[in-house]
Amino acid sequence: MKEVYFDHNATTPIDPRVLEAMLPWLGALHGNPSSVHSFGQRSREAVEKARAEVAALLEIAEPTQVVFTSSGTEANNAVVLGAARSAGQGGRLVISAIEHPSIEASAVRLEEAGVEVVRVKPRSDGCVEPEAIESVLDERTFLVCLMLANNELGTLQPVREVAEGCRARGVPLLCDAVQAVGKIPVSAPELGVDYLVLGGHKFNAPAGAAAVWVRPGAVFEGFHLGGGQERNRRAGTENVAALVGLGAAAALAASEVGERGRRMAKLRDRFEGGLEGFADVVVHGAQAKRLPNTSHVALVGVSAESLMIRLDLDGFAVSAGAACSSGKVEPSRVLLALGVGELEALSSVRVSFGQGNDERQVDDLLGALGRHVGELRRLSVENTSGTRTD
Ligand SMILES: Cc1ncc(COP(=O)(O)O)c(C=O)c1O
Repeated sequence: MKEVYFDHNATTPIDPRVLEAMLPWLGALHGNPSSVHSFGQRSREAVEKARAEVAALLEIAEPTQVVFTSSGTEANNAVVLGAARSAGQGGRLVISAIEHPSIEASAVRLEEAGVEVVRVKPRSDGCVEPEAIESVLDERTFLVCLMLANNELGTLQPVREVAEGCRARGVPLLCDAVQAVGKIPVSAPELGVDYLVLGGHKFNAPAGAAAVWVRPGAVFEGFHLGGGQERNRRAGTENVAALVGLGAAAALAASEVGERGRRMAKLRDRFEGGLEGFADVVVHGAQAKRLPNTSHVALVGVSAESLMIRLDLDGFAVSAGAACSSGKVEPSRVLLALGVGELEALSSVRVSFGQGNDERQVDDLLGALGRHVGELRRLSVENTSGTRTD
């Protein structure tokens, strides 16, 4: 059985060209970038080259403004918690209701410590309205968090407009661009944000390498204490091989992002076009601007979890919109925030395309859905009508 991977918003395979760039930094002896001898200095050069490649991808003129971290999660946590620490008591944090858990959980942590958190709901198309964010900004607001592309839906958020409103009120804006970078062109200066986060493993670099661009003058306090790495902003010896991979992936993305986007959009449109032959299908966020690679669909009346398992047995990796916690399948927080009903949310699967996918694989997936969807709907009806109440 051939396995086909359609879960690129979860993680992506390392591009062979990225791996090739990394290999010399994995096998041979290399120095600590902080060491003054030539072993160390060669590693330092490699790290700084990667920094310049990441800066170039984001159109940032000064690479030293890029801080490397180990993950998007670490970068998001550090910005949110650091901003709260520097704001002191009595502040307000404004986030969208569809932010990634690394932002949402940081907000919950702050709420527990007495910080006021305002969560701004999106419209039913999966986009937040700029006015909805602007209307809750006040003089106590120390940070706004708005992602560029939602990880579940792929919907693009109006970051540039929100940044304008934030700037006018002197409120910093964190843009989590982890899902967007490498899939669409992203220019940090053009967006006008104060922090922009990206993660290597979402665009064909290894996990363990991520970055945050910090606008000069914006507060950034990493949690890691000790060495003076990253210009005293994030202590800890650099993962040179992973950072070299991140830099190589950034350089490739800078030249290939347009072509990749066109290819992904074709696959997504072919998939969604093929779904038109199915009854009761809802494409979440279809009316909004979306990432070219993401399709999140409800096959109403089908258990997404059962479907995902059946597809996995057929060799297809997709993601259920629902999350399993404590043995119970919970509907996606993001879909609920859009106003999607629980049952529809539990019928939703995310298909996220990547560089290795082709049209034949999309057609095979549609064929597999054709085999399973009708039967799962019948099973679901039988289960419901067979519910015993005695
Ligand atoms: C939108 C978004 N932000 C942040 C993250 C966290 O990134 P990492 O996996 O590097 O911790 C993810 C990963 O799923 C994401 O999709």
